[in-house]
Amino acid sequence: MGKIESQWLSSPSRRSAIRSLMTGFLAGSPLLRAQQDPYRDHSRVPALREMITPFDFEPVAYAKLPRDAYDYTALGVEDEFTLRRNRQAFEWVELIPRGIVEANSVSTATDVLGTKMAFPIMVAPTASHLSLHPEGEYGMHKGCTAAAGTPMIISNNASLPLDKIGKAAAGPIWFQLYPKETLDDYREAIEIAQDAGCKGIAFTYDGASGTSSTGPRERVLHDRHLDSQRQVEDLKTSGDKFRATPRRPRRPPKYGLTGSTAGLDWKLIDSIRAMCKVPFLTKGILTGEDAKACVEHGLSGIIVSNHGGRAMDYGPATIEVLAEVVDGTQGKIPVLVDSGFRRGADVLKALALGAKAVCLGRVSRWGLAAYGPAGTQRILEIVQAELLMAMASTGRASLDSIDRSLVRTDFS
Ligand code: GLV
Repeated sequence: MGKIESQWLSSPSRRSAIRSLMTGFLAGSPLLRAQQDPYRDHSRVPALREMITPFDFEPVAYAKLPRDAYDYTALGVEDEFTLRRNRQAFEWVELIPRGIVEANSVSTATDVLGTKMAFPIMVAPTASHLSLHPEGEYGMHKGCTAAAGTPMIISNNASLPLDKIGKAAAGPIWFQLYPKETLDDYREAIEIAQDAGCKGIAFTYDGASGTSSTGPRERVLHDRHLDSQRQVEDLKTSGDKFRATPRRPRRPPKYGLTGSTAGLDWKLIDSIRAMCKVPFLTKGILTGEDAKACVEHGLSGIIVSNHGGRAMDYGPATIEVLAEVVDGTQGKIPVLVDSGFRRGADVLKALALGAKAVCLGRVSRWGLAAYGPAGTQRILEIVQAELLMAMASTGRASLDSIDRSLVRTDFS
């Protein structure tokens, strides 16, 4: 054997190549797998009781859902910058515990615009639950109610009738209202919601480019190559299914925006507000200036939201702008927040920055998709337990004791 060949044979790269080859063979052997982990069958779906954090549910939902339904839940618009930033920004908020305080019992009960809740947590409106589980919104509402009566905001694009969702369980419900074409359309939707028992109406105007599903949601566009148009078709009609009168043919959208959204103004919002007998909120506020206008126009509350990064890309995370919005209201109306919230500590950070409650969207969908109503219940209970733990470990035994001194932020 020549010198070069012998060096090459004993070189570390060759040794490691052979080692990884051997390891690969061994790893593939059922014998070795059984020896390493005899009690676990990795090919099975874990039992519900094995779920430890909200994030554990997402892979189970992924495994159980058709590709288009999973992608619809996970996606953000365009580059998904805002989708990622919603999560990343929580890392720029630190929790600063108080020194020595007594936190033997922690209380979390609250009241948001007349809706009582055991925790400052609601389920955010998300569309088409039938694509997640055969019980659809009925299942979601049952799961919410089982999780200490968590209020559920029903999507304008629910796949099942509002009044029946309301009757599926006892917990409180609100309704999410999307832009419509005429005042009569608004009146009809609001009356249906109020008759179904909705105790709040959240007007969501931030979906100009995204919520019509005609916007640049590139995951959906790519899914077309998988020939999976069911979700897209369902969304095009779901909000209309329960109308008393059939919808007129729609005008083509202006600039690619949903036709009615392009014409929104405060005069219209004043008219819609006047139709509501229950508290009327706007969902999608991201600036102090808009928050001030909401107060001036007599709105009951605000939901700070960027639609989970699904409506307009390249905007800030909601946790970054929350304090500015809260300041804009001067404490006159409650501010809720959604977009990117997964864990109890996330909820606590928002409460510290002035939110009255937090709404969970994808979390509730992972729960329902993975294990049905019991999954929704369990995932909400995990977040609730995490909130209790975060409050206890930062020495805040009541919601009233939570203020900005609890956090240090660095959003620069
Ligand atoms: C609906 O609200 C969506 O984001 O798809």
